[in-house]
Amino acid sequence: MATCQSASIQLILKHMTDRIISPTSKEEDIKLDQTLRPKTMTDFIGQDKVKKNLEIFIGAAKKRQEPIEHTLLYGPPGLGKTSLAYIIANEMNAQIRVTSGPAIERSGDLAAILTNLNDGDILFIDEIHRLNKVVEEILYPAMEDFALDIIVGKGPSARTLRIDLPHFSIIGATTKYHLLSSPLRDRFGSTWRLDFYTNDNITQIIKRAAKILNFTIDEESAKILSTRARQTPRIAIRLLKRIRDFADIKNHGQINPSITNEALALLDIDEMGLDEIDRRLLKIIIEKYQGGPVGLGTLAASLSEDIGTIDEIYEPWLMQLGFLARTPKGRIATKLAYEHLKLTPPPNQQEKLI
Ligand SMILES: Nc1ncnc2c1ncn2[C@@H]1O[C@H](COP(=O)(O)OP(=O)(O)O)[C@@H](O)[C@H]1O
Ligand SMILES: [Mg+2]
Repeated sequence: MATCQSASIQLILKHMTDRIISPTSKEEDIKLDQTLRPKTMTDFIGQDKVKKNLEIFIGAAKKRQEPIEHTLLYGPPGLGKTSLAYIIANEMNAQIRVTSGPAIERSGDLAAILTNLNDGDILFIDEIHRLNKVVEEILYPAMEDFALDIIVGKGPSARTLRIDLPHFSIIGATTKYHLLSSPLRDRFGSTWRLDFYTNDNITQIIKRAAKILNFTIDEESAKILSTRARQTPRIAIRLLKRIRDFADIKNHGQINPSITNEALALLDIDEMGLDEIDRRLLKIIIEKYQGGPVGLGTLAASLSEDIGTIDEIYEPWLMQLGFLARTPKGRIATKLAYEHLKLTPPPNQQEKLI
């Protein structure tokens, strides 16, 4: 029995060594997403300002019996952009077609998608900042005039043929608003930024997920968990799953504060939601580069990570906590980061930020 239990714990640990607090979707999330993804605005917890505005926006479009304006959603991964796109489609009673920037390789791919839409359909383009330039240019007249310009023939006899498209709406999602070209940004009728959630909202999201997955979590455990989840629903849900696994093996499925704390300690997630890699990143800046500034490329090489992962996945939360600052000269670990790691900042540390 003891060996069986320790084997199971080993298995959980192995599972746990995948970076659990990555806010981007992993394979294990896909099935869970289908079950847990909120279907209506009422199910969607938090983000009150965005929600209220969107409700008005949807209500008005419905009243006029028109498709909604093209809508852009942006913010760090795991905060609910995809969920909101589905909710908007659901509330509009519209068909949603789903694609992504990198999936549309050639202009012909986009032309095929657009000509297959119907009036009132929603085309969801995830990671829209990764559309290539040629494809993007096809999108401009499509968004503006519901038209597709096709060049027929070659050389001097080439001419443009304009094909009418159905009245559809685009919902774009991006984690990198600044990478969107301004002509593309301008073609969206409305743009919404999703922000990190409050701990109360995360607690609610945890309780909702537990209820849907058919188990119970007490208030205190949910609260503990909410403080470690980087204010990100996707991470909260993933941690919840790990804690349930842990409770299944250690405590007959019963989640309580001590099981929760034990599981979080095993996952090596500290009270600010940082894991081993986050702490290593800060320590590299502090110990190898005297607190910074250090360029992103150098930092990536020291961590053996790619630049995009650091920039998109690790840094947003460290900046949200005020542990890391981006300056024109590079990344800096702040006084707060030193304090969190129980290290003494050099006297001139704050000056580096000025
Ligand atoms: N506001 C919310 N209320 C309840 N659950 C949410 C909320 N936002 C996100 N989630 C949960 O987190 C998961 C990740 O959200 P998702 O929409 O995929 O984020 P993003 O597209 O921004 O990366 C969803 O499957 C859903 O279960
Ligand atoms: Mg998404």
